[in-house]
Amino acid sequence: MLRKLLLVTVILGASLFAKDIAYLNQKSSLFLKGKKVGEILTLSPVIILEKKGKMTKIQIKGMVSQDYEQELVKNLNQRETYVYFDKEKGNGFKTLSKKEDAYGGVWLEVTGVYKVKTKSLTKDKNKLYEQAKNLYAKTCSVCHGLHNPNEFMVNQWPNTFKSMEPRVALNKSQKLLILKYLQQHAKDTKGAKNTKDTKKH
Ligand code: HEC
Repeated sequence: MLRKLLLVTVILGASLFAKDIAYLNQKSSLFLKGKKVGEILTLSPVIILEKKGKMTKIQIKGMVSQDYEQELVKNLNQRETYVYFDKEKGNGFKTLSKKEDAYGGVWLEVTGVYKVKTKSLTKDKNKLYEQAKNLYAKTCSVCHGLHNPNEFMVNQWPNTFKSMEPRVALNKSQKLLILKYLQQHAKDTKGAKNTKDTKKH
């Protein structure tokens, strides 16, 4: 009985989660045909295609501005940065569709296949959120009450954060983790509803 149940669970699981999603647990080099082509940032989601020892083949989706292909963001309304490419062109992604923003700027929906170090991936993004939340609560409530991540939009957090950054003694990777946590729980995200326990005074 138990074995049968397990088998059903495994089969269901395999079909439901055919797409194997993971997240970067730190900022990491992105490789294309063995060469580094850019950096993929903490908490960016990727689809795992193939794990081979130290390196994992991943697929990335996002959007780039047609005028600036160097920065790949979540989408044109939520410009959370996923990847900074080293070069402006020739980054090995293909265009799926084109969209125009409110200012007439053209955005490309793109996808690409790359490799990252296996150890820089995690399935458990809640653990990263937990770390970020603790760090945030500890360092960003010294001068004022802790601001709820959902007070600002995804696109507003980077500038707000930048003005506060010099006031805290954190290293670059800690700062990036907090910023990503704030953006992924911003007002215009699904994560916003999970921030009620972050008290504002
Ligand atoms: C050394 C003191 C200090 C620390 C530490 C500090 N802040 Fe602030 N923060 C301020 C002051 C002062 C203001 C109000 C005016 C200003 O913007 O300078 C403020 C304002 C803010 C605002 C409101 C901005 C607005 O436009 O309404 C946010 C959000 C904020 N801080 C976030 C943070 C975050 C995130 C951190 C941690 C990375 C942080 N603060 C750490 C002093 C600090």
